[in-house]
Amino acid sequence: MLLALSVILLTFVFAGLLFVIILFMFLLFDAFLDLPYVATQRRKIEIIMKFAQVKKGETVVDLGSGDGRLLFACAKKGARAIGYEINPLLIFITLLHAKLKGFSDNIVVIRKNLWKADLEVADVIFVYAKRKTMPKFEDFVYKNVKKGTRLVVNTNPFPNKKPLKEEDKIFLYQV
Ligand SMILES: C[S@@+](CC[C@H](N)C(=O)[O-])C[C@H]1O[C@@H](n2cnc3c(N)ncnc32)[C@H](O)[C@@H]1O
Repeated sequence: MLLALSVILLTFVFAGLLFVIILFMFLLFDAFLDLPYVATQRRKIEIIMKFAQVKKGETVVDLGSGDGRLLFACAKKGARAIGYEINPLLIFITLLHAKLKGFSDNIVVIRKNLWKADLEVADVIFVYAKRKTMPKFEDFVYKNVKKGTRLVVNTNPFPNKKPLKEEDKIFLYQV
């Protein structure tokens, strides 16, 4: 009985320690990024999806896909959703979630610097970044996408382009 209790106690201590280590590594990793992890709020996802008008068979690219919440919203519409992400924990969470929800065929997460992303394949691109990085994003996206691509930007707009629509700090552009 005492042995069983000790094993249970040790298991809890070990799990707790593991959790703290993973959390610490996550925060440490994030602290060095120009573009830290901030997840899009649920109410904003509705506006993003309304603006994006994602259709079955289209390809969507999320530049910094976080836990993959925008990828899932697009996969539910039958799109091919590609996320670029460098945080391994967020990639793991997204891929696990995709497997459990049966979206593994629609969702791909590429562990690669988003500044090397292939944007030519995209019908829709999502950007969510700090204000100071938006000029670089504007330049990168407009130089590399095909004509007609819809760009949905969260919170900070592109500095030199006029959005087609704006609602609750979500901005829609079309190249
Ligand atoms: C503001 S969050 C956006 C998350 C997600 N798109 C959403 O809307 O919920 C930015 C994400 O970009 C990732 N990131 C930062 N720098 C990156 C880089 N150079 N290449 C790929 N991903 C990056 C971060 O780990 C973070 O998950």
